[in-house]
Amino acid sequence: MHNVLVDGGTIRKLWIGEAAKYREHLLRLDPESRRNRFGGAVSDEFIANFVELTLGLDAVIHGFFVDGTLRGAGELRTLGPALAHEAEAAFSIERAWQSHGVGSELLRRTLLAARNRGIKLLHMTCLANNKRMQQLARKFDAELTFDFGSVVGEVEAAFPTPMSVLREMVADGHGFAIAVLDAQSRLLAAGNRR
Ligand SMILES: CC(C)(COP(=O)(O)OP(=O)(O)OC[C@H]1O[C@@H](n2cnc3c(N)ncnc32)[C@H](O)[C@@H]1OP(=O)(O)O)[C@@H](O)C(=O)NCCC(=O)NCCS
Repeated sequence: MHNVLVDGGTIRKLWIGEAAKYREHLLRLDPESRRNRFGGAVSDEFIANFVELTLGLDAVIHGFFVDGTLRGAGELRTLGPALAHEAEAAFSIERAWQSHGVGSELLRRTLLAARNRGIKLLHMTCLANNKRMQQLARKFDAELTFDFGSVVGEVEAAFPTPMSVLREMVADGHGFAIAVLDAQSRLLAAGNRR
């Protein structure tokens, strides 16, 4: 699909080698947006490690660019062969560009990428008070099943979510291959318990 013009910017997939742009965008998020994006408060160092890890995890990232600067992103991360029909999605838009339809367009593009990869269930880690994200997902719930089982309070959910497992991996500084294997087994175990 060609670049799409939204609110004065364009949306396209991030290229390999654009990790720095993604990291700088995430670091620019205001504190509330950063907390909403990661399901809790995280440090600058966490973000740097997160970008390195997530780009190695078969992620599809759509970016919203204004004058060459990344101002928004929609991330789709598959959960490996054992959970082939599930993925996690996460969105981040810098405050000045929020509520202008950018999130809707990024979600639309992310859903298309998910469908093309045979994904049936999309996990979204979302703080309970993040009504905008929940409202946004509701607009598209006919297209794919969303798992808001992972709607969490400031304290993590009692069970592991893709994001909570990844947060721990990032904190521990694991390599991504170990992270994938470990995440799969823990999510499968949690699914069996639920
Ligand atoms: C949540 C987020 C992705 C939404 O993207 P956005 O570009 O701001 O949202 P949109 O303009 O596309 O609006 C989507 C829907 O949210 C609702 N909405 C928009 N602005 C809103 C506001 N200020 N308050 C409540 N709901 C709002 C509307 O229902 C809107 O749909 P509509 O325009 O068809 O009525 C974005 O605000 C963001 O990045 N926030 C910080 C990080 C975050 O919360 N990430 C989500 C966790 S993964």
